[in-house]
Amino acid sequence: MKSLLWLQALLVPAFAITSQIPLVQDEPTVSDFTVHQSSVSPDHSIRIKRQNATLCNTPVDQYTGWLDVGAKHLFFWYFKGENYPASRTASEPLALWLTGGPGGSSMLGMLQELGPCLINEHGNGTVYNEYGWNKETALLFVDQPAGVGFSYLDEGEPLPGDSFTTAADVHLFLQMFVSQVFPEHGDGPLVITGESYAGHYLPALGAQIVSQNALHPKQPQVPLKSLAIGNGYVSPLDTAYGYWETLCTTNPGVNEPVFNSTRCDIMAANLPRCMDVSRTCYEHPDPAICQAASTVCWFGVIEFYDGESYAGGRNRFDITAPCDIDEFCYANTALIQDYLNLDTTFRALNVPKAIKNFTVGSEAVADAFQATNDLEISLMPELTYLLANQIDVLIYQGNLDLACNTAGAKRWTSNMAWKGQAEFTSRELKPWKSGGEVAGTTKEVNIQMVEGDEKRTRFALVTVDGSGHMVPQDKPAVALDMLNRWLAGKAFD
Ligand SMILES: *[C@@H]1O[C@H](CO)[C@@H](O)[C@H](O)[C@H]1NC(C)=O
Ligand SMILES: *[C@@H]1O[C@H](CO)[C@@H](O)[C@H](O)[C@H]1NC(C)=O
Ligand SMILES: *[C@@H]1O[C@H](CO)[C@@H](O)[C@H](O)[C@H]1NC(C)=O
Ligand SMILES: *[C@@H]1O[C@H](CO)[C@@H](O)[C@H](O)[C@H]1NC(C)=O
Repeated sequence: MKSLLWLQALLVPAFAITSQIPLVQDEPTVSDFTVHQSSVSPDHSIRIKRQNATLCNTPVDQYTGWLDVGAKHLFFWYFKGENYPASRTASEPLALWLTGGPGGSSMLGMLQELGPCLINEHGNGTVYNEYGWNKETALLFVDQPAGVGFSYLDEGEPLPGDSFTTAADVHLFLQMFVSQVFPEHGDGPLVITGESYAGHYLPALGAQIVSQNALHPKQPQVPLKSLAIGNGYVSPLDTAYGYWETLCTTNPGVNEPVFNSTRCDIMAANLPRCMDVSRTCYEHPDPAICQAASTVCWFGVIEFYDGESYAGGRNRFDITAPCDIDEFCYANTALIQDYLNLDTTFRALNVPKAIKNFTVGSEAVADAFQATNDLEISLMPELTYLLANQIDVLIYQGNLDLACNTAGAKRWTSNMAWKGQAEFTSRELKPWKSGGEVAGTTKEVNIQMVEGDEKRTRFALVTVDGSGHMVPQDKPAVALDMLNRWLAGKAFD
């Protein structure tokens, strides 16, 4: 880690000067980075480097770098929008993608699902993705929390162990990014999106943005407009409940239930206790209580399937698919590691010596989260706070997923107490079409949340048939259509 200190000493003489450094440099410096010093805090700066299609096969401009927040260093990869006219006005849309985990690198989402380029079949390069999510918006991937992927901490720093610490760091990153590094995003709109454990990260980050904007009106504001949560782990209790419906009925869109009645009866009998202890954790989120809930639900419900999810076994992310590699199940994930670990990739990114090896999932970060209550708490309170503050929320769900199943998502979206709840639960899910074909089901409400303010806040649930956990991977055209409609404020049905 010491190797970085000289770099900052060299390039950051005083922030008033360095913040004026033009973004694109023709002459590579020793480090190849341009450094932007935060106007808000002396401890924060962003180092950024322009990349090209050799690294990620796309025609648009791309940049990589790190946010240095004191002892934490968050890696990002940023792409311009493909169809969106590059504007120098402050209202260019931006989407932030966060992969879940906890401990998952956003490089997984980028290179396996929705990035402007995807990993190739050999794991030694990338191919252009015609369904990349950066058609109508610029797109930003961040490895977070520090300790994940290409993000790292200085030696001796404790790993972040909860979604709220993480949110504070990413908020600081976004604040600088949209005000100083790419001020064309200063007025947004910003959508924060992601998958899986991002069902925890995104509500926590959204709440941090809204509260910090309000607390510091004179500081640069992060122009958050909406959240789009894919197969999100928002309410663990409901996800556990949904295991039975997903495995013991044909509701996910399968011809036969996955489990036989012997297993289904055992799970059904164990569910009430799992619910009881989980609810106690929601009400009294002491780590000891929450970890007990996790144990009770694991042995009573989850383990019957997840305990058999490994290479050659069952796939937690798609009940109809095989599992090719341990943990992630998809062979592409291993190829991403191969590619990002190439010397040429490390050199192009200027990966610091602190990172010896890129891994898609950080076990150390997962362990740090396991030591707190973060894995078991519900993030519905943060979502209701965001809705009350007029932030739109899209919940989208691949129906074949078990890990963050649609049955659970239907349950918590109905149970969440907010002004739109009664209207939302009164509506039926209706089919929606994409490319002329039925893609799944949807329902939504548009609710006036602030008295005297005409703005209506949108809360939508969209399901996608024939898709597992990773909707942009399994249904790329449908996923892009869904995103673009959301960005444009268009209806799904
Ligand atoms: C990637 O690997 C394939 C198969 O070994 C090879 O044909 C191709 O030239 C390699 N591409 C690069 C960019 O190294
Ligand atoms: C039900 O499924 C389990 C696990 O696959 C299996 O061990 C058991 O034999 C099955 N029971 C019946 C009655 O088919
Ligand atoms: C593109 O980036 C690579 C590193 O990934 C670098 O070696 C190459 O010189 C760059 N090409 C151009 C045209 O800038
Ligand atoms: C890097 O990590 C990957 C995945 O964990 C592993 O397969 C590989 O052996 C590691 N490489 C080195 C040089 O440590």
